[in-house]
Amino acid sequence: MKTAIITGASSGIGEATAYALAQEGFAVVLAARSIEKLDKLKEDLVRHGYKASAVQADVTRRSDMKAVAKTALDEYGRIDVLINNAGIMPLSFLKNLHEDEWEATIDVNIKGVMNSISAVLPAMMDQKDGHIVNVSSIAGIDVFPAGAVYCGTKFAVEAITEGIRKELSVPFNIRATSIRPGGVETNLMSTITDQEVFQAFESMLGSVQFLKSEDIAKAIAYAVNQEQNVSVDHICVRPSNQIM
Ligand SMILES: NC(=O)c1ccc[n+]([C@@H]2O[C@H](COP(=O)([O-])OP(=O)(O)OC[C@H]3O[C@@H](n4cnc5c(N)ncnc54)[C@H](OP(=O)(O)O)[C@@H]3O)[C@@H](O)[C@H]2O)c1
Repeated sequence: MKTAIITGASSGIGEATAYALAQEGFAVVLAARSIEKLDKLKEDLVRHGYKASAVQADVTRRSDMKAVAKTALDEYGRIDVLINNAGIMPLSFLKNLHEDEWEATIDVNIKGVMNSISAVLPAMMDQKDGHIVNVSSIAGIDVFPAGAVYCGTKFAVEAITEGIRKELSVPFNIRATSIRPGGVETNLMSTITDQEVFQAFESMLGSVQFLKSEDIAKAIAYAVNQEQNVSVDHICVRPSNQIM
């Protein structure tokens, strides 16, 4: 049975991806800080006949992510797929100097991604098989006001994804995919504290019909279900009336 680790599985895109990959036959190892939510999700998956494990983990802690990888190996013997999905988006205008939020964004969105990658790479390199899916954003290919730091972290995720492909695909058969969602209805906006952001975005995004997390989960399932010789490098999925 193939095994997938999903970070940020306690809500939104991560939670929807857990259902999508379980339905595709993966054992799913769920990681996030909110263990009660993860346990509930795990119980629901198991009740539906799927294999699932829940591990409390903060992606900014290297040791937590190593413990997640160990759980996957102890319980299922393999790590086939890593979905690097955990992320925060406390958008703010640079002039407002939300320094702590800048640091937290870099810690979760970049260091967290690297901590997760380093936790799974030894197993994937041993197996000479693996797939790392990084949930980036359209913010990883285009910068918008109030998004300097968030977009910067997603540009980094794009670079890291391409680095995995260039360094690890030929010698280790490890594939890499970047998923670039546009607006998706989740809790992500709840991390924004700069009130000017809401004012600025209302006119820009007010009419956009946000996607459901399941729309992104379907794209992730498509990427990980390809034949061995097929690499889906990136998928951009946005609301059809979101023009930026
Ligand atoms: N929603 C959108 O419009 C959109 C668009 C483009 C890209 N994305 C990307 O999609 C990904 C998922 O976000 P979402 O929209 O599904 O938002 P969400 O519902 O807020 O989910 C974020 C997830 O990340 C986890 N997380 C945050 N900090 C963490 C940490 N330090 N350690 C471990 N887990 C942590 C949260 O779990 P805990 O709080 O339980 O730890 C939660 O499960 C993010 O990378 C985001 O940048 C979202």
